[in-house]
Amino acid sequence: MICLGVETSCDETALALVRDGVLLGERLASQEDLHALFGGVVPELASREHLRKGSALFPALIKETGVDPEDIGAVAVARGPGLLGSLLVGMNLAKGLALGLGTGFVGVNHLHAHLLVVGLEREIPFPSVGLLISGGHTQLYLVHSPFDFELLGRTLDDAAGEALDKAAKLVNLPYPGGKFIDFLGQGEEPDKTLFPRPLTSGSGLDFSFSGLKSAVARYVSGHPSLKLPTLPGEVLPEVPGLPRYCATINWAVADTLRIKAERALAAHPEAKALIVAGGVAANSMIRREMIGLCAASGVEAVFPSPRLCTDNAAMIAFLGEQLVRAGFVHGLDLLAIPRGRMVPLDYTRPSS
Ligand code: KG4
Ligand code: ZN
Repeated sequence: MICLGVETSCDETALALVRDGVLLGERLASQEDLHALFGGVVPELASREHLRKGSALFPALIKETGVDPEDIGAVAVARGPGLLGSLLVGMNLAKGLALGLGTGFVGVNHLHAHLLVVGLEREIPFPSVGLLISGGHTQLYLVHSPFDFELLGRTLDDAAGEALDKAAKLVNLPYPGGKFIDFLGQGEEPDKTLFPRPLTSGSGLDFSFSGLKSAVARYVSGHPSLKLPTLPGEVLPEVPGLPRYCATINWAVADTLRIKAERALAAHPEAKALIVAGGVAANSMIRREMIGLCAASGVEAVFPSPRLCTDNAAMIAFLGEQLVRAGFVHGLDLLAIPRGRMVPLDYTRPSS
């Protein structure tokens, strides 16, 4: 079966085609440059850009892959959680395509799709502990199967990516800040005592990054020389101390994540692997910490390749195909789920 995936939950407009678990092609219109002007995603602009760019991606994808639209068997859409306006645009595009193509339709949990996209590159071991780290979410799961996710822990306030993005913005690094923190901090020794690793002293699996954000803000206000000139050009100027600052905040986030992942693995010895996914999983220091943890714990460390870590439609098409094959579909009255709300398991069986 060929499944078309549509992703618009934040600032990437993307369409992809997957056939029998193999990616045939994808088209992505990134809004990174637009939002960089504002230092973060502006929701109203994101919706408008999805509307402007989304429809044209379909003919381009068909042309690129040579797929006959008649052969598309299902349309899957990122249903949430995400920015509501952005989701609504993608949802309507996907519904229109499903109507026009006469296919089945399914809404996909964006977070589950992040964790399973690695299935496009290798077999996924089940059960696994899944660590989902993105700009809007930080969650730990026990993943029993593609359709059975048990939530073990989640952030009580900000996401890991948000903490990195905020730390970057405070020193005028461009958006998306996590990428620049990663890049600038490479090869630097972090100061492991400077910033807190929040909520790590107890035994729980929930996260909190708001205290870290405040600690970093206080530190930068006392060290204004760390700031770049407000509008950096193509080349980032060298600022003494900035690379170490980046390595230090990156380590505080990476080690907090490591502590929680270690706890989750210890609590679930049945897990065969630790899957780390979401935009922040592209981070080189976090990858190193998790590889070290997995080696010590005797489980496999599984990461999607960096290009599949950030938002993409391949992950939506991949999980959508599996859902439809297993008989999980939605009606065209499906609603989008905004950030902060649980995505319900409300599929209908076509025969029912
Ligand atoms: O999954 P994603 O593309 O979008 C959401 O669903 O949120 O994640 C975006 C996040 C941003 O916070 C961005 O700064 C972060 O991923 N990110 C990184 C790296 N590349 C992207 N964070 C750390 N290191 C990176 N290399
Ligand atoms: Zn995402």
